Amino acid sequence: MARPIAERVIEEVRLATDVVDLISGYVTLKKKGQNYFGLCPFHNEKTPSFSVNPEKQIFHCFGCSAGGNAFTFIMKHEGTSFPDTVKFLGQRAGIQIDFEEQDEGQARQNEALFHINEFAVGWYREMLLTEQGKRAHDYLVGRGLTSQDIETYGVGYAPPGWDNLLRQAQRTANDEEALLQVGLILEKEEGRRYDRFRDRIMFPIWNLSGRVVAFGGRILQDKQDAPKYVNSPESAIYLKGKLLYGLFQNRDEIRKQDFAVFVEGYMDFLSLASVGIRNAVATSGTSLTEDQARLILRYTRNVTLMYDSDSAGSAAALRGADVLIEQGLQVLIAKLPDGHDPDSYIREQGAAALRERLEQALPLFDFKLNQLTAQSPEQRSEGIRSLLESLARMRDRIQRSLLLSDLAGKLHISEKILWTELETVIQKKAVNASHRVSTIAERLTDLSRVKGHSRSKKAMDDLVRILIHDWSVAEFVFNHIELEEVKDSDKLPVLTYFRNQFKSEKRPSESELLQRFSEVDLAEFIVGEVNKELPQVDFQRWAADCIAALKKEKLQQEIATIREDLKQTELDAPRRAKLLGRCIELENEKKNLF
Ligand code: CTP
Ligand code: MN
Repeated sequence: MARPIAERVIEEVRLATDVVDLISGYVTLKKKGQNYFGLCPFHNEKTPSFSVNPEKQIFHCFGCSAGGNAFTFIMKHEGTSFPDTVKFLGQRAGIQIDFEEQDEGQARQNEALFHINEFAVGWYREMLLTEQGKRAHDYLVGRGLTSQDIETYGVGYAPPGWDNLLRQAQRTANDEEALLQVGLILEKEEGRRYDRFRDRIMFPIWNLSGRVVAFGGRILQDKQDAPKYVNSPESAIYLKGKLLYGLFQNRDEIRKQDFAVFVEGYMDFLSLASVGIRNAVATSGTSLTEDQARLILRYTRNVTLMYDSDSAGSAAALRGADVLIEQGLQVLIAKLPDGHDPDSYIREQGAAALRERLEQALPLFDFKLNQLTAQSPEQRSEGIRSLLESLARMRDRIQRSLLLSDLAGKLHISEKILWTELETVIQKKAVNASHRVSTIAERLTDLSRVKGHSRSKKAMDDLVRILIHDWSVAEFVFNHIELEEVKDSDKLPVLTYFRNQFKSEKRPSESELLQRFSEVDLAEFIVGEVNKELPQVDFQRWAADCIAALKKEKLQQEIATIREDLKQTELDAPRRAKLLGRCIELENEKKNLF
């Protein structure tokens, strides 16, 4: 078991973390009055109902009622445990947290992997500036990068030779096993180890915390028999599909401009950066994943895809567009002249020309529609189907329906026919997705199984609710219930806190209440209540009803147990009489509740 983190440390992390700053890393926030607003990361929405309150240091969504403090935001968003969240936020704030041995295991191991990559970045960069690296440096400069760009993006050089990095690591007492784990070295069957990257330009790949998790290594001269790029394998710290190259450096700009440019290659990304276009990310030549789409959604909803203008690039762009659309993003496609990629276009035509291309980017549907015009009837119907495929992925039904009408007009096809076709596509998708739905349904049935005590659960919820809104009822409440009687409610921690405050004649402070509970559902409940306006009702009467419901349930349980006992045939008469007597007593007590 992990040792709990000291309360003092949690408090320190809490104080060092600003909820607006933290959440801005995940959601595009805009200030309105005292609060900040953005699109809720916990449900799909078009208009912002997600608010962050800097004064109370909480977030709350009026749409899906997600809510909580900085800790619960991370727990909910990343699915991490409370201790891990404290560690994460501690690290973010530069607070040293003593890890307990066992549970530190993975973290320490990852740290070793980050560390070895950072060692390699440093060394590769050094190598780029040596005599040996001059060729590589010249190559980069020849491709238009300045020394500043090279420095900013940590570009380096792995010299030729089988074990330069390995030997450097040994000389400097760096961890050889870590080198192996991140794939910087490889092992032959005979156990001989050698460098993966040899005579290559090295592009470090960062995660969102600014740690280097992998490398892409480009060959200096394109050759027939050698791959242009060699990449790090996936590892404990590198999952390719969950990362976008350059997002760490460019995310602020993406948020500020509320728009991101997706390119395919490292070189495209760097070329854009070198001419001051700093809202790009590179997908590194692999197909876009759902995770990547959700990742960019934290910063903006608007993406322009500017892929290589060859058939592979166009196909990849269209596939990527569908993935983005499915996550609710607005997608534009920017077209370059045949044979170009963003990098070559900048070199040939200049930055202004490229910006113009970006401005001329077309919404995905217009782009697809345009492609139809020059085609044969067969190709056209194929193209229309592909349009419907994309439409089927759209979550916003109103937008979908508007687009469909628009399409019908432009294609001179009856709207009805398009609808029927769209239905077919949607149904096919639904069949494919049905296995996912069934697992959700299974979980729901699980939930309903534990329902049972819903009345007393509701009563507990209501008591907490009442006390949040009217503390003057506390005396009545705590004079009438013993918390030991309601052991199995998830709201018990809050009620216990209230009772302790009451006993020590203190009023609970709203800010403490909001920060104190780190359990996600609980924090959500509290924030939801604090933000709610309750009608002015008789709170004491309401509390009395709740207490009655709780007591009643408890009595009923006792009665049920006695009835079970009474069914036993071997009971002797005196014992039976006693049980019956108790049963009647309880029934009377039940009748006399408030
Ligand atoms: N890529 C790869 N392995 C390859 C080829 C490409 O991993 N053998 C990835 C790289 O991330 C590369 C991206 O796909 O950046 C796009 O490929 P490409 O357009 O060929 O590379 P560029 O980055 O444009 O490089 P350059 O302009 O130097 O050819
Ligand atoms: Mn290129």
